[in-house]
Amino acid sequence: MSGMPPVAAVESNLAIPADALVMLVGASGSGKSWWAHTFFSETRIVSSDRCRALVADDETDQSVNRAAFAVFYTIIGQRLSLRRLTIADSTSLSPFSRERLRNIAGNAEVPLHVLVVCTPLPVLMRNNHARVRRVPDPVLKRHAGQLREMLDSGVLETEGYAAVHHVPFHSLTAVAPLIVAPTDRATPISAP
Ligand SMILES: Nc1ncnc2c1ncn2[C@@H]1O[C@H](COP(=O)(O)OP(=O)(O)OP(=O)(O)O)[C@@H](O)[C@H]1O
Ligand SMILES: [Mg+2]
Repeated sequence: MSGMPPVAAVESNLAIPADALVMLVGASGSGKSWWAHTFFSETRIVSSDRCRALVADDETDQSVNRAAFAVFYTIIGQRLSLRRLTIADSTSLSPFSRERLRNIAGNAEVPLHVLVVCTPLPVLMRNNHARVRRVPDPVLKRHAGQLREMLDSGVLETEGYAAVHHVPFHSLTAVAPLIVAPTDRATPISAP
């Protein structure tokens, strides 16, 4: 054995308050669900795919989005009202979808943390082709374009989140959540 320290399995920690909503943002196939399931128990993850399956038995059926997202937002809102750490697992690439989650977190008065999974198009395609549930390539291209536009515009930094974390795909395994004390709502922002 050399005197080298052991290689850390985790390169960095994301500090996430125990009452937070974590909004994943990323293209289909970028690794959002993979990251969520690696680090969080099943019940903390609210997935739009799962909600499609819950309402219509098919997580790929985009025609049931209205009903599925009603369930998605309801579960998230109810969990936050109980101060339960929650991971919102959907693409959240549209301003509208992010606004919905901002409103839900705001109404519950919990911090909203954003994890942007930045995965290049060739990796999206590779991931997508390696899984059972495949999304058509044009959808992946559209998502990659939406993500690029969102990042280039810097809009996320103007939307008022408690924190925005950008994680490249190759670092996903090395970025682990560190659950910290819940937000103390009793602490005044400034002294009277
Ligand atoms: N860090 C990783 N290492 C190895 N494989 C990964 C990693 N991240 C994702 N994958 C694989 O890539 C595929 C797509 O990942 P995942 O299902 O997490 O994407 P997603 O962002 O949740 O997509 P969607 O929006 O369609 O649900 C999965 O089969 C997963 O096993
Ligand atoms: Mg997923």
